[in-house]
Formats: sequence, C-alpha cells, structure tokens
Amino acid sequence: MSFLPVLLLPLFFLCLVSPSTSNDLDSLFKLKTALENSNPTLLSSWKQENPTCNFTGVLCNSNGLVSEINLSQQNLSGSLPFDAICSLRELETLSLGSNFLYGSLTQDLSNCTNLQELDLGMNAFTGKVPDLGSLNQLRLLSLNGSGFSGIFPWKSLENLTKLTFLSLGDVPFDESPITTELAKLDKLYWLYLSNSSITGKIQEGIGNLTLLENLELSQNQLVGEIPQSITNLKKLWQLELYENFLTGKFPVGFGNLTSLTNFYAANNSLEGDLSELKSLTGLVSLQLYENQLIGEVPEEFGEFKNLANLSLYANKLTGPLPQKLGSWSGMEFIDVSENYLSGPIPPDMCKNEKMTVFLLMQNKFTGGIPESYANCKSLVRLRVRYNSLLGTVPAGIWSLPSVSIIDLSMNQFEGSLASDIGKANSLSFLLLANNQFEGQIPETIGNLKKLVSLDLFINNLHGIIPGSLCNSQGLAFLDMSNNSLSGMVPQCLTTMSTLAVLNLGQNNLTNVGEWSQNCNLETLDISGNQIQGQFPKFLVNCTKLEVLNLRNNEITDSFPCFLKNTSTLRVLVLRSNKFYGSIGCPKSNGSWPMLQIIDLAQNNFSGDIPGASLTSWQAMMANKDDASSKLNHIQFQDNGIGGIYYQFYDTITITNKGLETNLVKILIVFTSIDFSCNEFNGSIPEEIGELKSLHVLNLSNNAFTNAIPSSLSNLSQLESLDLSNNNLSGQISPQFTKLTFLEVLDLSNNQLVGRIPSGNQFSTFPKESFEGNKDLFEPPLNADNTTGLSLPALMKSHPNSGDEIDWDLITVEIGFTFGFGIAIGSLLFCKRWSKWYYKAMFNILVKIFPQLEQRFSNHRRHVYISQRY
Ligand SMILES: *[C@@H]1O[C@H](CO)[C@@H](O)[C@H](O)[C@H]1NC(C)=O
Ligand SMILES: *[C@@H]1O[C@H](CO)[C@@H](O)[C@H](O)[C@H]1NC(C)=O
Ligand SMILES: *[C@@H]1O[C@H](CO)[C@@H](O)[C@H](O)[C@H]1NC(C)=O
Ligand SMILES: *[C@@H]1O[C@H](CO)[C@@H](O)[C@H](O)[C@H]1NC(C)=O
Ligand SMILES: *[C@@H]1O[C@H](CO)[C@@H](O)[C@H](O)[C@H]1NC(C)=O
Ligand SMILES: *[C@@H]1O[C@H](CO)[C@@H](O)[C@H](O)[C@H]1NC(C)=O
Ligand SMILES: *[C@@H]1O[C@H](CO)[C@@H](O)[C@H](O)[C@H]1NC(C)=O
Ligand SMILES: *[C@@H]1O[C@H](CO)[C@@H](O)[C@H](O)[C@H]1NC(C)=O
Ligand SMILES: *[C@@H]1O[C@H](CO)[C@@H](O)[C@H](O)[C@H]1NC(C)=O
Ligand SMILES: *[C@@H]1O[C@H](CO)[C@@H](O)[C@H](O)[C@H]1NC(C)=O
Ligand SMILES: *[C@@H]1O[C@H](CO)[C@@H](O)[C@H](O)[C@H]1NC(C)=O
Repeated sequence: MSFLPVLLLPLFFLCLVSPSTSNDLDSLFKLKTALENSNPTLLSSWKQENPTCNFTGVLCNSNGLVSEINLSQQNLSGSLPFDAICSLRELETLSLGSNFLYGSLTQDLSNCTNLQELDLGMNAFTGKVPDLGSLNQLRLLSLNGSGFSGIFPWKSLENLTKLTFLSLGDVPFDESPITTELAKLDKLYWLYLSNSSITGKIQEGIGNLTLLENLELSQNQLVGEIPQSITNLKKLWQLELYENFLTGKFPVGFGNLTSLTNFYAANNSLEGDLSELKSLTGLVSLQLYENQLIGEVPEEFGEFKNLANLSLYANKLTGPLPQKLGSWSGMEFIDVSENYLSGPIPPDMCKNEKMTVFLLMQNKFTGGIPESYANCKSLVRLRVRYNSLLGTVPAGIWSLPSVSIIDLSMNQFEGSLASDIGKANSLSFLLLANNQFEGQIPETIGNLKKLVSLDLFINNLHGIIPGSLCNSQGLAFLDMSNNSLSGMVPQCLTTMSTLAVLNLGQNNLTNVGEWSQNCNLETLDISGNQIQGQFPKFLVNCTKLEVLNLRNNEITDSFPCFLKNTSTLRVLVLRSNKFYGSIGCPKSNGSWPMLQIIDLAQNNFSGDIPGASLTSWQAMMANKDDASSKLNHIQFQDNGIGGIYYQFYDTITITNKGLETNLVKILIVFTSIDFSCNEFNGSIPEEIGELKSLHVLNLSNNAFTNAIPSSLSNLSQLESLDLSNNNLSGQISPQFTKLTFLEVLDLSNNQLVGRIPSGNQFSTFPKESFEGNKDLFEPPLNADNTTGLSLPALMKSHPNSGDEIDWDLITVEIGFTFGFGIAIGSLLFCKRWSKWYYKAMFNILVKIFPQLEQRFSNHRRHVYISQRY
C-alpha cells in the first residue's frame, strides 16, 4: 500500500522537468507578464514554485499539460501573446471573454490546432479577425463583442465543421455572412449574429442548419422575407430577428416550429396576419411590435398556457382580443397599444395573479373595465388611454396593491374617484385626463405618498382642491385644469419643493391666496378662473418659473415688474385681464433672455413699448439653427414598455426611440409676441426688427402711430403679422417682400398710403389684408381662391359657430396636452377667422408640430369638446 506514492513521486518530478511542461510554464509566464498589472492578485498563484496545474484559471489534462485556460470576467487588460498561447500544444479551451484585452492579432492562430473552445468575446481588440482556418477542432467560437472588425474570414469557416456554437455578435462585418460557408456548419445549435451590420437577405441555406436551437440575427440591416426554409429548423426554441428591415408574411409552415418559445421580430416591416402562429402553443414570449401586421389576434393565443409576454404594439391589428387571454397562461406582460383593436377587453386577465403590465393604449376598445381586474394583485401598470371605454371603474382598481401607473386618460369613464384611492400605496402616476369623472376629489388622495403625477385634466370634478395633496412628498406634476373646481388653491402647494408643474386652468377658482414660502414652480397655469384682485405677489419668489399663464381672469394690477428678475421665464401670458399702465420697468435691470412667448393682449396697457427692453429677449433673436434651447423642465418619458420616467430636463436625457411625451418639444422653436387689443401708442419700436426668430407678431387694435419700421423686414422667420386697427401711416416698404415665410398678413384699418409691394408672398394675400387704409393702391392680384380649401381634419364645420379648430384633437395627436394651448392660444386674434386664415394658420401649425400632418390622415376620431383656450 505504501509504495504507491513512492512510485508516483519520481513520476511527478519527471513531469515537472519534462520539456513539454517547462514549455507550458514558459508560455504561461509570458501570458502572466502581459496581463498581471491589470489584476495582480488573480495571477499571484502563477509562480515558479507552484505546479502549473495549480495556477488559478488553469486546468491540465491527464498528461499534466495545460488543456484549459479560463480567465473570463477578471478585469484583465493587456495585449495577448498568441504565439506563446498557441505553443501550449494541448490547449483545448481558451476562455478570456469579458475582459479589457486589446491589441490586434498579428500572428495567425495556425499553431492552436487543438483548440475546441475559443472565447474572446466582450473585449477591446482591434483590427481584423484573425484567420481561423486551421482550428478545425473548434466546437465553440465566440468573438461576440470582441472589438475585431473588417472583412470576416468566411472562407476559414469551411474547415470548422465541428462548430456547434458560433457567436459573432457586435462584430461589424463588411460582408454579408449568410453565405454558403455558414450553411455548411450543420452541427450548429447556437448561432448568434446580432448587431453585426449584416445586410442582404437571409438566404434559404439557413434551413440546412437543422440542429439550430437558437438563431439570433437581430439589429442588422436584413431585408426581404423570412425564408421558407426556416420552417426546417424544428428544434428552434429561440428566434430573434428584431430591428431589421424584413418584409412579407410569415412563411407557410412557420407554425410547424412548435418548439419555439421565444420569438422576437419586433421593429421590422412584416406584413400579413398572425394566423401562421396559432399553432405555436409553446410560446412564452412573443414580441412583434412595430411592424405592419394586420388581421386579428388568433383566438388560439388565449389557450397558450405558457405565454407570459405578448407585445404587439404599433401594428395594424383589428378585431377583438382573444377573450381567454390571461385566463390560462402565466401571462405577465401584454402590450397591444397603437393598433385598431376593438371590442371588449379580456375579462379574465388576472386569473393567475401574475399579470404585471397591461397596455391597451390607442385602440378602439369598448365597454368597461371588468370587475375581475380588481384581482390583479401584481399589476404594476394599467394603461388604457385613448380608447372608447366607459362606465364606472371597478372600485378595486383604485386600491390595487402593486399598481404604479394607472392611465385611463381619453376614454369616457364616469363616476367619482373612490376614496379607496388612498390605499394604492405604490401609485406614482394617476392619469385620468379627458374622461367624465365627477364629484369631489377625495381627501384620501393625500395618502398616496408616492404620487409623482396627477393628471385630471378635462373632467367634471367639482368642490375644492384637497389640501391633503401636499402630503404626497414627491408630487411633481399636478394638472386639474378644465374641471369645475372652486374655492381657494391650497397654500401648502407652493411649499412643496418637488412641485414643478401646477395647472389649475379653466376652473372656477376664486383665490390663490398669498403664499409666502419659497417656491420651486416651473409652470403655473391658473388661466380661465375667476381670480380677482392683484397679481399674486408670491410669484416674486418663484425664481425657476418658466411658464406663467394667468389668461382670462380678473386680475387688476399694473405690469408685474418684479418678474423681470425671473430670468428663466419663457412664456408669459397675461391675456384678458385688467392689467393697466405702462409695461416699462425703469427701475428694473433684469431681463428675459429665454422669453419665447409673451401675450399681453386684451388688457388696458398703455404708453410706449420700450424698445430697449426688447433687445434682452435673446431667445427671440437666436438664429433658427441654434434655436434648440430646451425647456429646463420636468419631462415625462415613455420607457418603451409602458412605463414612464420623469426627470428634470437638465439632468441626463434618456432617449428612447424618440418617445417623448412632454411639453418640451412644443415650445422649443415657437416664438410669439401678442400685444393686441390694448391702448399702446407711439411708434412701433425699431428694435423689434432684432427679434430674428419671431414667428408671430400681433400688435393689432392699439393706437400705434407713425410708419411701420422697415426693420420688420428682418424678421425672416415671421409667419404671421397683424398690425390692423392702429393709426399707422406712411408707405409699406417694398422690403417686406423679403418675408417669405409670411402666411398671415393684416394691415387693414390704418392710415397707410402708396403702392402695395408685389412679389413673393405678397401676391397671395387677399384684399382684406389691406382694406380700410387711407390711400393704398394696386391691390394684390386675384387672391388665390382656387386652391381647394380642403380643410384638414382638425377644422370642422359647426353649423352655428362657424369653423373651429378642434383643439382637443390636436392635443391628442401631440400626445401631451399641457402647455400646448398657451402656445396656440397666441395664434388666436381678437377677430373671427376667415377660411383663408384657417388654412394659413394650419400651415403654421404643421410647421411647428410636423407630426400633425402625417397623423391626421390616420385618425378620424373626433370627440367634440368645446375649445379649451
Ligand atoms: C494548490 O493551491 C491551493 C490553494 O490555491 C493550495 O492549498 C495547494 O497546496 C496547492 N497545491 C500544490 C501542490 O501546490
Ligand atoms: C470559466 O469560468 C467561469 C467562472 O469564473 C465559468 O462561469 C465559466 O463557465 C468557465 N468557462 C469554461 C469554458 O469553463
Ligand atoms: C472588476 O471591476 C469591477 C469594477 O471595478 C469590480 O466591481 C469587480 O469586482 C471586478 N471583478 C473582478 C473579478 O475583479
Ligand atoms: C508555430 O510553431 C512553430 C514551431 O514551434 C513555429 O516555428 C512557428 O513560428 C509557430 N507559428 C506561429 C504563427 O506562432
Ligand atoms: C482548410 O484546411 C486545409 C487542410 O488543413 C487547408 O489546406 C486549407 O487552407 C484550410 N482552409 C482555410 C480556408 O483555411
Ligand atoms: C453578445 O454580447 C451582447 C452584448 O453586446 C450580449 O447582450 C449577448 O448576450 C452576447 N451574446 C452571446 C451569445 O454571448
Ligand atoms: C442545403 O442542403 C441541400 C440538400 O442537402 C443542398 O442541396 C444545398 O446545396 C444546401 N445549401 C447550402 C447553401 O449549402
Ligand atoms: C407542417 O407539418 C405538417 C404536419 O406535420 C405537414 O403536413 C406540413 O407539410 C408541414 N409544413 C411545412 C411547410 O413544413
Ligand atoms: C362658478 O362659481 C360661481 C359663483 O362663484 C357660480 O355661480 C357658477 O355656477 C360656478 N360655475 C361652475 C361651472 O361651477
Ligand atoms: C419671499 O421669500 C422670503 C423668504 O425666503 C419671504 O420673507 C418673503 O416674504 C417672500 N415674499 C413673498 C412676496 O412671498
Ligand atoms: C375668385 O373669387 C372671386 C370673387 O370672390 C370670383 O369672382 C372669381 O371667379 C374667383 N376666381 C376663381 C379662379 O375661382
């Protein structure tokens, strides 16, 4: 028994000194030298006195020779000595993935002939992928995210017939790899080629890889159809094709891929319907969002017992959802938003209580929310905005224990907000805008400690604003506009350091009280109420204010000069109040460098417009190209899976597929001055001509005298100019024909004389633009009354009231309601518009909100709600 060690010991020493082992030791030391600085502790066991086979990350075979090096995920950096590595003659596994290795591979790997597994993925190599042609024992090859680029040596794959696992993701190829070489690797069960700049079609040869279980070709530039031969891949359980340019229908027989559990083909241009998929009963995750799919969601989907994630948003699907959806499966996530789905929403969604995210936004669903939804104990997001759902909301919904977002906006829900609402401990976003909720806002709403956004815009709520709201320590956005709320605005609201947006417009509030603490508001809108008395003085302390809208109240005061110190101000609307006196602030040296919209119309302001102060409005002077200033403002962003982030704009912006649901966009480029319907007099200041990015200027219905300053012709962005009903005299400078963007011009009812300039836009204005003057001649050539007044969808005829713009529709289209009216309100003048005005104005709107034009052709849903502003 005891002679065995005696026998082995000399053998052991023999091994140590054999040429092979000393060669191994040599090679490993070279590797150590290259890497050790980056992780000294890891390689501390790599010492002369230790046996090679006991080095960390090193394994030996029965011959005592190194067969495996595994140093993946060790924060190693350095340039690899491949000549040394490949002289480890029996090395079979080299696993160095997820490090920070760099350098290009100058030597070839032709001596690494025994390698079976090579993982260099997730590193920072540079240069071309090395020639792999001699590694004919290779079973696993991963260069995923290795950093290599250039033309991939596809030819060399022809010798790698033993490959079963090939991962070349994130390697940018110069050449399409779906080639004949690849199609010969018929032992592959794992092929990963995502995010590799692959172009061209997926070729039929892919169907020869019949052992494939996982095929990932996402995030490339693949075109054409999914090849028919893919239906040969019967073992496939995961197929990822998302973010390509694939077109066409699912191939016939696709439904034979019954092993498929994960199918991701979102973000392509796939057409056709889902009927081929109805036999894929094993599906766990199906993501086909952002395609062109049509037809109905097959009833069979409701029987898929494993289906957990169904994401079909932004397609053209029609018909009802399978009524059994969620009643069998372990369903956790459903997003079918932005389709044309109709009918009732599935009744049993939460039978198994796993349901977490349920998004039905922007469809045509009808009926109510089923009582059973009160069982959705795990539900985190429920968003059904923009459907035709109605009725009362089941009481249990208000108190779901996990719910973080409830978005019922833009439906026809009614009834009152149950006091149970205070039990929804996790609720952060409660979005109920545009419904018919009535009654009072329950006092218990103050129990929602996590509330961030409360949007009750356009409902029938009345009573007072509960002061308990101030208990919600994180409340940032509060919109209760367009209700019938009355009484006083709770004083505590301004003491909330988080509150950035407060919109109480279009209510019946009578008093804002005198708040005295510090104020962090960025937007305050109390327009359209019955607020009397003086300008609310507490605003002096709101030093972050960007938007102030007091329109349509009964405030009687002189111009609030102290606002001049609020240099963040972008939008100031005092329209339709009883302000009086001069707007000059001689004692103030503050300025409004950000100001974009100022609307003082319909007050009793008088005196001169102080030209010097205009020149501090730098935002209006910016060149068009650098007018990219953004509202330093709270912003809500969709995270793409139905969640909403909110953040302040001056923090890092997360851009996610361009989905921005916010007011920021609206005000970026738009600039407007409206001083109409006051008693201003004197000359129009020459300095106005310096506000080069001004879009709208309305000085009508005042008592301005003298000539129109010729500097106005420098306002190259100007789209609307109204100087009507003043006492302007002199001639119209021919320079004004430089205003090529001008769509609306009204100089009527002045004392102008001389020849009306012609050329450019000027030939298109109707004669009404010039009438009522002293001696203007040569009227514009026949005004263009031929171009069909095919007014776009947003302008609708109303038998009694004439044409009106459907403001609500616009706000729906833009996806965010707040702030919009302020900008657009400024486009409305004192007068009733002619059809020509509408058309011209629509053109302006389209320029400001480009998405209007394209989207109006799609949506034909007109809920008439009387004009908001
Ligand atoms: C191998 O390493 C371990 C610790 O890493 C050590 O305990 C052991 O003694 C070493 N064996 C030899 C033969 O050096
Ligand atoms: C390498 O080691 C890591 C753990 O450090 C392990 O997860 C991985 O499976 C190993 N790779 C190989 C090829 O053995
Ligand atoms: C790698 O570095 C990161 C960050 O420095 C550290 O958190 C991690 O633990 C390191 N990993 C290893 C294996 O050393
Ligand atoms: C391969 O090994 C041979 C013999 O050891 C050596 O001469 C040659 O330089 C090696 N080739 C490379 C590319 O390392
Ligand atoms: C494939 O292997 C053969 C023989 O080992 C060799 O001659 C040939 O060059 C290899 N092909 C490639 C593309 O490396
Ligand atoms: C490839 O790398 C990406 C990250 O770039 C990672 O998400 C993916 O899981 C990796 N795939 C494989 C098969 O290693
Ligand atoms: C796929 O297999 C078929 C039949 O085995 C063969 O004729 C065809 O050439 C193969 N396709 C490719 C691209 O290798
Ligand atoms: C699908 O499977 C059915 C029955 O197994 C078979 O008859 C049909 O030919 C297959 N279709 C395709 C396209 O492979
Ligand atoms: C607004 O309040 C006044 C009295 O303060 C009342 O007469 C009127 O009916 C209220 N309007 C609405 C819409 O509640
Ligand atoms: C502004 O805030 C200061 C304290 O920060 C306070 O003393 C003052 O009364 C406030 N002014 C108004 C008008 O509320
Ligand atoms: C333009 O309108 C005038 C009257 O408003 C009409 O007489 C004329 O025929 C119209 N021109 C065209 C081309 O329709």
